[in-house]
Amino acid sequence: MIAKIEELLRRVEDFRPKAEAEIEEFRIKLLGKKGEITALMDQFRTVAPEMKRELGQKINTLKSAALDRINSLKEEISAASAAGGGTDDLTRPGTNDYPGSRHPISIVRNEMVEIFARLGYTVADGPEIEDDWHVFSALNFPEDHPARDMQDTFFIEKNPDILLRTHTSSIQVRVMETQKPPIRVICPGRVFRNEAISSRSHCIFHQVEGLYIDRNVSFADLKQSLLYFAKKMFGEDSKIRLRPSFFPFTEPSAEMDVSCNLCGGKGCNVCKGTGWLEILGCGMVDPNVLEACGIDSNEYTGFAFGMGIERIAMLKFGVRDIRLFFENDVRFLRQFAPAL
Ligand code: PHE
Repeated sequence: MIAKIEELLRRVEDFRPKAEAEIEEFRIKLLGKKGEITALMDQFRTVAPEMKRELGQKINTLKSAALDRINSLKEEISAASAAGGGTDDLTRPGTNDYPGSRHPISIVRNEMVEIFARLGYTVADGPEIEDDWHVFSALNFPEDHPARDMQDTFFIEKNPDILLRTHTSSIQVRVMETQKPPIRVICPGRVFRNEAISSRSHCIFHQVEGLYIDRNVSFADLKQSLLYFAKKMFGEDSKIRLRPSFFPFTEPSAEMDVSCNLCGGKGCNVCKGTGWLEILGCGMVDPNVLEACGIDSNEYTGFAFGMGIERIAMLKFGVRDIRLFFENDVRFLRQFAPAL
């Protein structure tokens, strides 16, 4: 009987089925009603009591070895068929899944930062949750002045006021407070305004603002720097024009238009027939702002500008609705993926 057990154990170990059906055949042959192991167990009842212990152990070992072997072979086969079976062509090319891509706002922000880096600007950062001083007071917004209504604000606390920044000019205040001129910084970041959501406005958007302070900085420097930016961003044929405007922190102030790159200035529905697109605000830093930030306004002058990244991205990519940037719809976003 021991010899039979050992023989069966070897057969279990050496069992290499070539087809799935052989596994079940093997199981029936050993463990079925008339199987060889079943027969051994029947015989076991008749063996001498002093042999029972040893033989019982051996038969149990054989039985579980056989079951383990059969079960693991079955598992192997079903895993292989779930993976496409052994008949698949493994040299077949894979499917090109969309691996994700940069968000269009990031693409445009990086491009802006890069253009201004060529003019010597470095990037400065600051908090999105700000105090009244850095968003308004240091920037020459008198308390309760209607100029504050231009930027309707999300307040977190009142007295003292803690709020979500409405523009990244707050970063410029922080830079002026901590650095000595010459200062040349670009401030990209997320800003918040309490505006009704429509296709033209959104309560969260992104800005890039710039600041240049040194001795003898003039309005001509401002104009030339922004012309350079417009040409790099919208093409070398681009023209700019400046229209007088008002900001509390700049004097004089201007809005800048760039020639419409969609119709080449002839007039289309995007530029509403004017040939011009408004893209940013700018001006010479008001001496009150320099003084509030500890910079001597008799010695230094400077200019500042600020623009919305969404606006530039919409013009550059022909996007008609600003909300598309915030919906995370992959059908929209994947259009900005680099070609594979
Ligand atoms: N901070 C202004 C805004 O958010 C933009 C601006 C910046 C205008 C610098 C002029 C100079 O509307």
